[in-house]
Amino acid sequence: MQVYEILYKKRQGQELSTAEIDFLIEGYTRGTIPDYQMAAWAMAVCLRGMTPRETADLTMAMVRSGVTVDLSGIAGVKVDKHSTGGVGDTTSLVLIPLVAACGAPVAKMSGRGLGHTGGTLDKLESIPGFRVEMTPEEFVAQVNRIGCAICGQTADLVPADKKLYALRDVTATVDSIPLIAASIMSKKLAGGADAIVLDVKTGDGAFMRDVEDAFRLARAMVEIGTRVGRETVALVTDMSQPLGRAVGNALEVAEAIETLRGFGPADLEALCLELGSHMLRLAGVAPTPEEAKKRLTRALRDGSALAKLKEMVAAQGGDVSYINQPIKLPRAQHIKLVTAPAGGYVRRIGALAVGEVARFLGAGRATKEDTVDPAVGVVLRKKVGDPVQPGEALAEIHANHPERLPEAEARLLAAIEIGPEPVTPPPLIYGVVTAAGEERLA
Ligand code: URA
Ligand code: CA
Repeated sequence: MQVYEILYKKRQGQELSTAEIDFLIEGYTRGTIPDYQMAAWAMAVCLRGMTPRETADLTMAMVRSGVTVDLSGIAGVKVDKHSTGGVGDTTSLVLIPLVAACGAPVAKMSGRGLGHTGGTLDKLESIPGFRVEMTPEEFVAQVNRIGCAICGQTADLVPADKKLYALRDVTATVDSIPLIAASIMSKKLAGGADAIVLDVKTGDGAFMRDVEDAFRLARAMVEIGTRVGRETVALVTDMSQPLGRAVGNALEVAEAIETLRGFGPADLEALCLELGSHMLRLAGVAPTPEEAKKRLTRALRDGSALAKLKEMVAAQGGDVSYINQPIKLPRAQHIKLVTAPAGGYVRRIGALAVGEVARFLGAGRATKEDTVDPAVGVVLRKKVGDPVQPGEALAEIHANHPERLPEAEARLLAAIEIGPEPVTPPPLIYGVVTAAGEERLA
Protein backbone atom coordinates (compact mmCIF):
# COMPACT_ATOMS: atom_id res chain seq x y z
CA MET A 1 0.00 0.00 0.00
CA GLN A 2 1.20 3.50 -0.83
CA VAL A 3 0.62 6.31 1.63
CA TYR A 4 0.58 8.76 -1.27
CA GLU A 5 -2.34 6.95 -2.92
CA ILE A 6 -4.30 6.94 0.33
CA LEU A 7 -3.73 10.66 0.84
CA TYR A 8 -4.76 11.39 -2.75
CA LYS A 9 -7.89 9.32 -2.35
CA LYS A 10 -8.96 11.17 0.81
CA ARG A 11 -8.09 14.50 -0.77
CA GLN A 12 -10.52 13.64 -3.58
CA GLY A 13 -13.21 12.97 -0.97
CA GLN A 14 -13.32 9.21 -1.41
CA GLU A 15 -13.94 6.65 1.29
CA LEU A 16 -10.89 4.77 2.59
CA SER A 17 -11.06 1.03 3.14
CA THR A 18 -10.63 -0.61 6.55
CA ALA A 19 -7.23 -1.93 5.44
CA GLU A 20 -6.08 1.54 4.32
CA ILE A 21 -7.05 3.09 7.67
CA ASP A 22 -5.33 0.27 9.59
CA PHE A 23 -2.22 0.75 7.46
CA LEU A 24 -2.09 4.49 8.23
CA ILE A 25 -2.61 4.16 11.99
CA GLU A 26 -0.26 1.20 12.35
CA GLY A 27 2.46 2.86 10.30
CA TYR A 28 2.10 6.16 12.10
CA THR A 29 2.22 4.53 15.55
CA ARG A 30 5.32 2.50 14.61
CA GLY A 31 7.00 5.53 13.07
CA THR A 32 7.19 4.24 9.49
CA ILE A 33 4.76 6.92 8.32
CA PRO A 34 6.16 10.39 9.03
CA ASP A 35 4.37 13.36 10.60
CA TYR A 36 4.14 15.27 7.32
CA GLN A 37 2.15 12.54 5.62
CA MET A 38 -0.12 12.07 8.62
CA ALA A 39 -0.64 15.83 8.81
CA ALA A 40 -1.69 15.87 5.15
CA TRP A 41 -4.17 13.07 5.88
CA ALA A 42 -5.57 14.89 8.96
CA MET A 43 -6.04 18.05 6.91
CA ALA A 44 -7.78 16.12 4.14
CA VAL A 45 -10.10 14.59 6.75
CA CYS A 46 -10.83 18.05 8.16
CA LEU A 47 -11.86 19.28 4.72
CA ARG A 48 -13.49 16.14 3.32
CA GLY A 49 -14.81 14.38 6.41
CA MET A 50 -15.14 10.66 7.03
CA THR A 51 -18.07 8.30 6.67
CA PRO A 52 -19.45 6.63 9.83
CA ARG A 53 -17.82 3.37 8.70
CA GLU A 54 -14.42 5.05 8.29
CA THR A 55 -14.78 6.78 11.65
CA ALA A 56 -15.53 3.48 13.43
CA ASP A 57 -12.58 1.83 11.63
CA LEU A 58 -10.29 4.68 12.66
CA THR A 59 -11.46 4.32 16.27
CA MET A 60 -10.76 0.58 16.36
CA ALA A 61 -7.39 0.98 14.62
CA MET A 62 -6.45 3.47 17.33
CA VAL A 63 -7.67 1.11 20.09
CA ARG A 64 -5.39 -1.60 18.66
CA SER A 65 -2.36 0.75 18.67
CA GLY A 66 -1.73 0.09 22.37
CA VAL A 67 -2.75 -1.92 25.38
CA THR A 68 -6.37 -2.31 26.37
CA VAL A 69 -7.78 -2.69 29.85
CA ASP A 70 -9.49 -5.95 30.67
CA LEU A 71 -12.41 -5.38 33.02
CA SER A 72 -13.87 -8.84 32.47
CA GLY A 73 -12.88 -9.74 36.04
CA ILE A 74 -15.57 -7.34 37.26
CA ALA A 75 -19.06 -8.81 37.40
CA GLY A 76 -21.78 -6.87 35.62
CA VAL A 77 -21.95 -4.31 32.83
CA LYS A 78 -19.21 -1.71 33.18
CA VAL A 79 -20.57 1.67 32.13
CA ASP A 80 -18.09 4.49 31.65
CA LYS A 81 -18.97 8.15 31.65
CA HIS A 82 -17.09 10.82 29.77
CA SER A 83 -17.43 14.57 29.66
CA THR A 84 -15.99 16.56 26.77
CA GLY A 85 -14.89 19.03 29.42
CA GLY A 86 -16.33 22.06 31.05
CA VAL A 87 -15.75 24.61 33.78
CA GLY A 88 -16.49 23.45 37.31
CA ASP A 89 -17.79 20.15 35.96
CA THR A 90 -18.05 18.30 39.27
CA THR A 91 -20.18 15.44 37.87
CA SER A 92 -17.67 12.54 38.00
CA LEU A 93 -16.95 13.13 41.68
CA VAL A 94 -20.67 12.80 42.38
CA LEU A 95 -21.52 10.09 39.87
CA ILE A 96 -18.86 7.51 40.75
CA PRO A 97 -20.14 6.89 44.31
CA LEU A 98 -23.77 7.68 43.45
CA VAL A 99 -24.07 5.15 40.64
CA ALA A 100 -22.08 2.56 42.61
CA ALA A 101 -24.41 3.04 45.59
CA CYS A 102 -27.28 2.05 43.28
CA GLY A 103 -25.61 -1.22 42.33
CA ALA A 104 -23.78 -0.54 39.06
CA PRO A 105 -20.01 -1.21 39.10
CA VAL A 106 -17.93 1.89 38.29
CA ALA A 107 -14.32 1.31 37.21
CA LYS A 108 -13.22 4.85 36.42
CA MET A 109 -9.96 5.75 34.82
CA SER A 110 -9.20 9.41 34.64
CA GLY A 111 -6.54 11.67 33.22
CA ARG A 112 -5.24 14.94 34.60
CA GLY A 113 -5.53 17.13 31.56
CA LEU A 114 -4.77 20.76 30.94
CA GLY A 115 -8.10 22.20 32.05
CA HIS A 116 -9.00 25.34 33.95
CA THR A 117 -8.96 23.19 37.05
CA GLY A 118 -7.32 19.83 37.50
CA GLY A 119 -9.00 16.60 36.49
CA THR A 120 -11.03 14.34 38.76
CA LEU A 121 -7.76 12.76 40.00
CA ASP A 122 -6.30 16.11 41.02
CA LYS A 123 -9.52 17.02 42.76
CA LEU A 124 -9.57 13.82 44.81
CA GLU A 125 -5.92 14.28 45.70
CA SER A 126 -6.91 17.30 47.77
CA ILE A 127 -7.96 14.61 50.30
CA PRO A 128 -4.76 13.71 52.22
CA GLY A 129 -3.53 10.19 51.58
CA PHE A 130 -5.79 9.53 48.57
CA ARG A 131 -3.95 7.23 46.19
CA VAL A 132 -4.73 7.09 42.47
CA GLU A 133 -1.99 4.67 41.39
CA MET A 134 -3.26 1.12 41.37
CA THR A 135 -2.26 -2.07 39.63
CA PRO A 136 -4.92 -3.48 37.30
CA GLU A 137 -5.43 -6.29 39.84
CA GLU A 138 -6.02 -3.86 42.71
CA PHE A 139 -8.38 -1.83 40.54
CA VAL A 140 -10.53 -4.82 39.59
CA ALA A 141 -10.47 -6.20 43.15
CA GLN A 142 -11.62 -2.88 44.64
CA VAL A 143 -14.55 -2.55 42.22
CA ASN A 144 -15.60 -6.12 43.04
CA ARG A 145 -15.29 -5.44 46.76
CA ILE A 146 -16.95 -2.02 47.15
CA GLY A 147 -18.47 -1.24 43.74
CA CYS A 148 -16.20 1.58 42.56
CA ALA A 149 -12.64 2.75 42.08
CA ILE A 150 -10.86 5.60 40.35
CA CYS A 151 -7.32 5.38 39.09
CA GLY A 152 -4.89 7.14 36.79
CA GLN A 153 -4.87 6.27 33.12
CA THR A 154 -2.20 3.78 32.02
CA ALA A 155 0.38 5.58 29.91
CA ASP A 156 0.28 3.06 27.08
CA LEU A 157 -3.43 3.38 26.33
CA VAL A 158 -4.06 4.48 22.71
CA PRO A 159 -0.55 5.71 21.77
CA ALA A 160 -1.86 6.53 18.28
CA ASP A 161 -4.13 9.16 19.82
CA LYS A 162 -1.31 10.76 21.82
CA LYS A 163 0.79 11.11 18.68
CA LEU A 164 -2.05 12.16 16.42
CA TYR A 165 -3.48 14.65 18.90
CA ALA A 166 -0.10 16.36 19.29
CA LEU A 167 0.15 16.57 15.50
CA ARG A 168 -3.40 17.91 15.09
CA ASP A 169 -2.71 20.50 17.77
CA VAL A 170 0.00 22.15 15.65
CA THR A 171 -1.56 21.66 12.20
CA ALA A 172 -4.98 23.29 12.75
CA THR A 173 -6.71 19.92 12.50
CA VAL A 174 -8.14 19.52 16.00
CA ASP A 175 -11.69 20.56 15.23
CA SER A 176 -12.83 17.81 12.92
CA ILE A 177 -15.87 15.93 14.24
CA PRO A 178 -14.75 12.44 13.08
CA LEU A 179 -11.22 12.97 14.45
CA ILE A 180 -12.52 14.18 17.81
CA ALA A 181 -15.12 11.40 17.99
CA ALA A 182 -12.54 8.69 17.20
CA SER A 183 -10.07 10.20 19.68
CA ILE A 184 -12.54 10.22 22.58
CA MET A 185 -14.19 6.88 21.79
CA SER A 186 -10.89 5.05 21.27
CA LYS A 187 -9.86 5.92 24.83
CA LYS A 188 -13.20 4.80 26.29
CA LEU A 189 -13.12 1.52 24.36
CA ALA A 190 -9.48 0.80 25.22
CA GLY A 191 -10.43 1.45 28.85
CA GLY A 192 -12.67 -1.57 28.76
CA ALA A 193 -16.11 0.05 28.86
CA ASP A 194 -19.07 -2.20 27.96
CA ALA A 195 -21.34 0.82 27.56
CA ILE A 196 -20.72 4.56 27.53
CA VAL A 197 -22.58 7.67 28.66
CA LEU A 198 -21.24 10.86 27.11
CA ASP A 199 -21.77 14.39 28.36
CA VAL A 200 -21.16 16.59 25.34
CA LYS A 201 -20.94 20.14 26.59
CA THR A 202 -21.86 23.14 24.53
CA GLY A 203 -21.38 26.85 25.06
CA ASP A 204 -18.71 29.40 25.80
CA GLY A 205 -16.78 27.16 28.23
CA ALA A 206 -16.94 24.01 26.09
CA PHE A 207 -14.90 22.49 23.31
CA MET A 208 -18.04 22.60 21.10
CA ARG A 209 -19.29 26.14 21.41
CA ASP A 210 -22.15 25.68 18.99
CA VAL A 211 -25.16 23.52 19.95
CA GLU A 212 -25.50 21.97 16.48
CA ASP A 213 -21.79 21.05 16.43
CA ALA A 214 -22.27 19.42 19.83
CA PHE A 215 -25.13 17.33 18.42
CA ARG A 216 -22.95 16.38 15.43
CA LEU A 217 -20.20 15.19 17.76
CA ALA A 218 -22.75 13.37 19.93
CA ARG A 219 -24.20 11.58 16.90
CA ALA A 220 -20.74 10.65 15.60
CA MET A 221 -19.74 9.09 18.95
CA VAL A 222 -23.05 7.23 19.41
CA GLU A 223 -22.65 5.88 15.87
CA ILE A 224 -19.16 4.58 16.68
CA GLY A 225 -20.37 2.90 19.87
CA THR A 226 -23.28 1.31 18.04
CA ARG A 227 -21.07 0.04 15.22
CA VAL A 228 -18.60 -1.59 17.60
CA GLY A 229 -21.29 -3.11 19.79
CA ARG A 230 -21.05 -0.92 22.89
CA GLU A 231 -24.30 0.84 23.64
CA THR A 232 -23.65 4.57 23.84
CA VAL A 233 -25.86 7.44 24.96
CA ALA A 234 -24.88 11.09 24.61
CA LEU A 235 -26.41 14.07 26.37
CA VAL A 236 -25.82 17.54 24.98
CA THR A 237 -25.63 19.86 27.99
CA ASP A 238 -25.08 23.51 28.74
CA MET A 239 -21.66 25.00 29.43
CA SER A 240 -22.48 28.67 28.87
CA GLN A 241 -22.09 29.21 32.62
CA PRO A 242 -20.09 27.02 35.03
CA LEU A 243 -21.87 23.93 36.35
CA GLY A 244 -22.77 24.20 40.03
CA ARG A 245 -21.12 26.95 42.04
CA ALA A 246 -17.55 25.78 42.72
CA VAL A 247 -14.69 26.01 40.22
CA GLY A 248 -11.49 24.69 41.79
CA ASN A 249 -10.14 21.40 43.06
CA ALA A 250 -10.86 21.15 46.82
CA LEU A 251 -13.78 23.55 46.30
CA GLU A 252 -15.35 21.03 43.91
CA VAL A 253 -14.69 18.14 46.29
CA ALA A 254 -16.62 20.09 48.94
CA GLU A 255 -19.36 20.76 46.38
CA ALA A 256 -19.54 17.06 45.47
CA ILE A 257 -19.86 16.15 49.18
CA GLU A 258 -22.68 18.69 49.55
CA THR A 259 -24.40 17.19 46.51
CA LEU A 260 -24.01 13.65 47.84
CA ARG A 261 -25.57 14.85 51.11
CA GLY A 262 -28.54 16.07 49.07
CA PHE A 263 -27.79 19.78 49.40
CA GLY A 264 -25.93 20.44 46.17
CA PRO A 265 -26.59 23.13 43.56
CA ALA A 266 -29.77 22.37 41.62
CA ASP A 267 -28.12 22.24 38.18
CA LEU A 268 -25.29 19.92 39.29
CA GLU A 269 -27.72 17.58 41.04
CA ALA A 270 -30.13 17.55 38.08
CA LEU A 271 -27.36 16.75 35.58
CA CYS A 272 -25.94 13.99 37.82
CA LEU A 273 -29.41 12.42 38.11
CA GLU A 274 -29.82 12.56 34.33
CA LEU A 275 -26.38 11.13 33.50
CA GLY A 276 -26.65 8.61 36.33
CA SER A 277 -30.05 7.40 35.17
CA HIS A 278 -28.64 6.50 31.76
CA MET A 279 -25.67 4.78 33.43
CA LEU A 280 -27.99 2.66 35.58
CA ARG A 281 -30.18 1.73 32.64
CA LEU A 282 -27.17 0.74 30.51
CA ALA A 283 -25.75 -1.27 33.42
CA GLY A 284 -29.02 -3.17 33.50
CA VAL A 285 -29.73 -2.38 37.15
CA ALA A 286 -32.79 -0.21 36.41
CA PRO A 287 -35.38 -0.95 33.71
CA THR A 288 -36.05 2.66 32.72
CA PRO A 289 -34.35 6.03 33.22
CA GLU A 290 -37.38 7.08 35.33
CA GLU A 291 -36.99 4.17 37.74
CA ALA A 292 -33.24 4.81 37.78
CA LYS A 293 -33.78 8.45 38.71
CA LYS A 294 -35.95 7.42 41.66
CA ARG A 295 -33.20 5.15 42.98
CA LEU A 296 -30.51 7.78 42.49
CA THR A 297 -32.59 10.39 44.29
CA ARG A 298 -33.13 7.97 47.17
CA ALA A 299 -29.37 7.29 47.37
CA LEU A 300 -28.73 11.04 47.69
CA ARG A 301 -31.41 11.48 50.37
CA ASP A 302 -30.72 8.37 52.49
CA GLY A 303 -26.95 8.86 52.76
CA SER A 304 -25.93 5.73 50.85
CA ALA A 305 -24.21 7.70 48.06
CA LEU A 306 -22.14 9.68 50.56
CA ALA A 307 -21.33 6.46 52.45
CA LYS A 308 -20.05 5.01 49.16
CA LEU A 309 -17.71 7.97 48.65
CA LYS A 310 -16.30 7.43 52.15
CA GLU A 311 -15.82 3.75 51.40
CA MET A 312 -13.93 4.57 48.19
CA VAL A 313 -11.77 7.22 49.87
CA ALA A 314 -10.91 4.80 52.70
CA ALA A 315 -10.16 1.98 50.24
CA GLN A 316 -7.72 4.25 48.39
CA GLY A 317 -5.89 5.40 51.51
CA GLY A 318 -7.61 8.78 51.91
CA ASP A 319 -8.46 10.38 55.25
CA VAL A 320 -12.24 9.99 55.60
CA SER A 321 -12.43 12.70 58.28
CA TYR A 322 -12.09 15.19 55.38
CA ILE A 323 -15.37 13.91 53.93
CA ASN A 324 -17.08 14.15 57.30
CA GLN A 325 -15.69 17.65 57.84
CA PRO A 326 -15.02 19.25 54.45
CA ILE A 327 -13.93 22.39 56.33
CA LYS A 328 -10.62 20.52 56.83
CA LEU A 329 -9.95 20.46 53.06
CA PRO A 330 -7.17 22.76 51.79
CA ARG A 331 -8.39 26.33 52.12
CA ALA A 332 -6.99 29.43 50.45
CA GLN A 333 -5.45 32.16 52.59
CA HIS A 334 -7.43 34.96 50.97
CA ILE A 335 -11.14 34.89 50.24
CA LYS A 336 -12.48 37.99 48.56
CA LEU A 337 -16.09 38.72 47.72
CA VAL A 338 -16.89 40.17 44.32
CA THR A 339 -19.95 42.39 44.68
CA ALA A 340 -22.56 43.60 42.21
CA PRO A 341 -21.94 47.10 40.90
CA ALA A 342 -25.68 47.41 40.14
CA GLY A 343 -28.92 45.61 40.93
CA GLY A 344 -31.06 43.60 38.51
CA TYR A 345 -30.82 40.07 37.18
CA VAL A 346 -27.78 38.02 36.24
CA ARG A 347 -27.83 37.76 32.44
CA ARG A 348 -24.59 35.93 31.78
CA ILE A 349 -21.69 34.30 33.64
CA GLY A 350 -19.10 33.53 30.99
CA ALA A 351 -17.92 29.99 31.72
CA LEU A 352 -14.67 30.36 29.82
CA ALA A 353 -13.72 33.57 31.62
CA VAL A 354 -14.51 32.08 35.06
CA GLY A 355 -12.43 29.02 34.14
CA GLU A 356 -9.55 31.23 33.06
CA VAL A 357 -9.69 33.10 36.39
CA ALA A 358 -9.53 29.75 38.26
CA ARG A 359 -6.49 28.77 36.21
CA PHE A 360 -4.90 32.21 36.77
CA LEU A 361 -5.31 31.65 40.53
CA GLY A 362 -3.44 28.32 40.19
CA ALA A 363 -6.28 25.76 40.02
CA GLY A 364 -5.31 24.39 36.59
CA ARG A 365 -2.30 23.58 34.48
CA ALA A 366 -0.78 25.38 31.52
CA THR A 367 1.69 22.54 30.83
CA LYS A 368 1.70 18.88 31.85
CA GLU A 369 4.51 19.50 34.33
CA ASP A 370 2.63 22.18 36.32
CA THR A 371 1.16 21.33 39.70
CA VAL A 372 -2.30 22.48 40.74
CA ASP A 373 -3.07 24.40 43.91
CA PRO A 374 -5.93 22.42 45.48
CA ALA A 375 -7.24 25.34 47.54
CA VAL A 376 -7.79 28.11 45.02
CA GLY A 377 -10.66 28.88 42.68
CA VAL A 378 -13.96 30.66 42.36
CA VAL A 379 -17.30 30.04 44.06
CA LEU A 380 -20.34 31.60 42.41
CA ARG A 381 -22.91 33.03 44.79
CA LYS A 382 -25.28 33.81 41.90
CA LYS A 383 -26.23 31.97 38.74
CA VAL A 384 -27.83 33.17 35.51
CA GLY A 385 -31.42 34.30 36.16
CA ASP A 386 -30.87 35.13 39.85
CA PRO A 387 -32.02 38.55 41.09
CA VAL A 388 -29.28 40.65 42.65
CA GLN A 389 -29.18 43.76 44.84
CA PRO A 390 -26.52 46.46 44.38
CA GLY A 391 -23.50 45.54 46.52
CA GLU A 392 -24.61 41.93 46.96
CA ALA A 393 -21.98 39.20 46.60
CA LEU A 394 -21.77 37.64 43.13
CA ALA A 395 -18.80 35.36 43.71
CA GLU A 396 -15.95 34.44 46.06
CA ILE A 397 -12.33 34.42 44.93
CA HIS A 398 -10.19 31.91 46.80
CA ALA A 399 -6.54 32.88 46.35
CA ASN A 400 -3.13 32.09 47.75
CA HIS A 401 -1.44 34.88 45.79
CA PRO A 402 -3.03 38.09 47.11
CA GLU A 403 -1.38 40.13 44.35
CA ARG A 404 -3.59 38.32 41.85
CA LEU A 405 -6.83 39.39 43.56
CA PRO A 406 -7.39 42.71 41.73
CA GLU A 407 -6.99 41.17 38.28
CA ALA A 408 -9.13 38.15 39.20
CA GLU A 409 -11.84 40.47 40.47
CA ALA A 410 -11.77 42.66 37.35
CA ARG A 411 -11.96 39.61 35.09
CA LEU A 412 -14.88 38.14 37.03
CA LEU A 413 -16.77 41.44 36.96
CA ALA A 414 -16.28 41.54 33.21
CA ALA A 415 -17.56 37.94 32.90
CA ILE A 416 -20.74 38.52 34.93
CA GLU A 417 -23.38 40.64 33.20
CA ILE A 418 -26.30 42.12 35.10
CA GLY A 419 -29.34 43.64 33.38
CA PRO A 420 -32.56 45.29 34.52
CA GLU A 421 -34.97 42.72 33.01
CA PRO A 422 -35.79 39.26 34.42
CA VAL A 423 -33.79 36.54 32.68
CA THR A 424 -34.72 32.95 31.84
CA PRO A 425 -31.77 30.68 32.71
CA PRO A 426 -30.35 28.63 29.81
CA PRO A 427 -31.59 25.03 29.43
CA LEU A 428 -29.45 22.50 31.30
CA ILE A 429 -29.94 19.68 28.78
CA TYR A 430 -30.40 20.32 25.06
CA GLY A 431 -31.10 16.76 24.10
CA VAL A 432 -30.29 13.07 24.24
CA VAL A 433 -28.77 11.06 21.39
CA THR A 434 -29.09 7.27 21.33
CA ALA A 435 -28.76 4.60 18.65
CA ALA A 436 -32.53 4.95 18.15
CA GLY A 437 -32.30 8.65 17.34
CA GLU A 438 -32.34 12.03 18.89
CA GLU A 439 -34.64 13.68 21.39
CA ARG A 440 -34.46 17.47 21.61
CA LEU A 441 -35.31 18.88 25.02
CA ALA A 442 -34.67 22.56 24.35
N1 URA B 1 -10.70 15.55 23.39
C1 URA B 1 -10.09 14.41 22.99
O1 URA B 1 -9.89 13.50 23.78
N2 URA B 1 -9.75 14.30 21.70
C2 URA B 1 -9.98 15.26 20.79
O2 URA B 1 -9.64 15.10 19.63
C3 URA B 1 -10.59 16.44 21.24
C4 URA B 1 -10.94 16.56 22.54
CA1 CA C 1 -18.94 22.89 40.02
